Amino acid sequence: MADPSSPSSPAPLMSARPKAPLSGKIRVPGDKSISHRALMLGALAIGRTEISGLLEGEDVLATAAALNALGAAATPSGDGHWVVDGVGVGGLAEPENLLDLGNSGTSARLLLGILATHRLTAFVTGDASLRRRPMGRVVDPLSRFGASFLTREGARLPLAVTGAADPIPIVYPLPVPSAQVKSAVLLAGLNTPGETTVIEPQATRDHTERMLRHFGATVTTQPAEGGGKRVTVEGFPELVAAPITVPGDVSSAAFPLVAALLVPGSEVTIEGVGLNPLRAGLLECLGEMGADITLVNERAEGGEPVADLLARANVLTGADIPAERAPRMIDEYPILAVAAACARGRTVMRGLSELRVKESDRLAAIAGGLASCGVRVAVEGDNLIVEGTGNFPAGGVQIETQLDHRIAMAFLVLGLATNEPVRVDDGRPIATSFPGFADLINSLGGVIAASP
Ligand code: S3P
Repeated sequence: MADPSSPSSPAPLMSARPKAPLSGKIRVPGDKSISHRALMLGALAIGRTEISGLLEGEDVLATAAALNALGAAATPSGDGHWVVDGVGVGGLAEPENLLDLGNSGTSARLLLGILATHRLTAFVTGDASLRRRPMGRVVDPLSRFGASFLTREGARLPLAVTGAADPIPIVYPLPVPSAQVKSAVLLAGLNTPGETTVIEPQATRDHTERMLRHFGATVTTQPAEGGGKRVTVEGFPELVAAPITVPGDVSSAAFPLVAALLVPGSEVTIEGVGLNPLRAGLLECLGEMGADITLVNERAEGGEPVADLLARANVLTGADIPAERAPRMIDEYPILAVAAACARGRTVMRGLSELRVKESDRLAAIAGGLASCGVRVAVEGDNLIVEGTGNFPAGGVQIETQLDHRIAMAFLVLGLATNEPVRVDDGRPIATSFPGFADLINSLGGVIAASP
């Protein structure tokens, strides 16, 4: 069954407990964060960047379309291979029309960083989910470079940005641990004289820094006074086109991984998963919960650590997940909560305020969805508490996905374990990050189908 990526009306999906264990070897699509950055830096480099393994999900395609509208040339050459002909740092041109970034917060925030130091005006919008999300977190620092913004109330999209004619470099302490904000500032720093610095109290994913270096920019990282890191980029680098191999997305691998842990008797290998330490917090949690996951064939590919994950089902136990881990697994809480719902004992996930401003209010969506499936769950401040009984939850309900791909996939995985099937009201958002999700789970023996 194909992912229902294009229908104009909701495409409900249903999952049910399979009769046999899940088994097999799969690959998941390319890393979304790395794919966005590969296209963006390719567009800002001199020469032709060749990318393999690019995620061809809607979010990344929105980035490619925006870059093409800005005068770069990003084109697919088949099977996840893309070529990008760059225009050089500062070389993008004013787009003739609105840039519509669909569901993708990463496209919006990182591109605003790039646009903030180009002499042009652009109008940026997105879907109903993205138009609800806060852009003030990038508008504030980018205004300090000299860019000007006109936004809807609460710094929401649609917005207009006019890039700074003579950008001023900034030193910016991140008020929230966000790789998107860090990246927006560093990317703005490329077309700015001198040094641009971000101070991050808690380390967030560092794909931008790694890839900037890969393209020849000078990026330094030092301990910050009072803890955390100072990340500095030198302005006006000559970025030189460089080949990129995108590893499998650990945030996508998380779904078949947890499915394999939950469906009794399962044994599944997920090949070629990117395991950047600033992304792999979920594996730490699942390890503490007693999951049987082995890393096989550990290697480095394209400057990122990669391994195959071998997962075998067993009964998980609850765990206390510290707030400091949140930036290393921020997208994995929906699926971790699903694992916790099937575990024995209490799982406490701390420090989740950022989940309220994702594609949906994920804290509310997880808690509401699990409760409707018969799980004892509570939100206390920014903490999520799930009481697992060691038995599978009841299920037998419909989950509202609220244009949130990870809520859709997490509850479809839960439905592989619950006593009664789980229906999600709309499977279309899955195509933003994980085209082919249902087919891939079904290839392991899962049961996910279109639901009337
Ligand atoms: C991303 C960073 C994270 C994450 C998002 C992708 C990125 O957001 O939730 O899916 O590619 O930089 P924040 O950095 O805003 O937490």
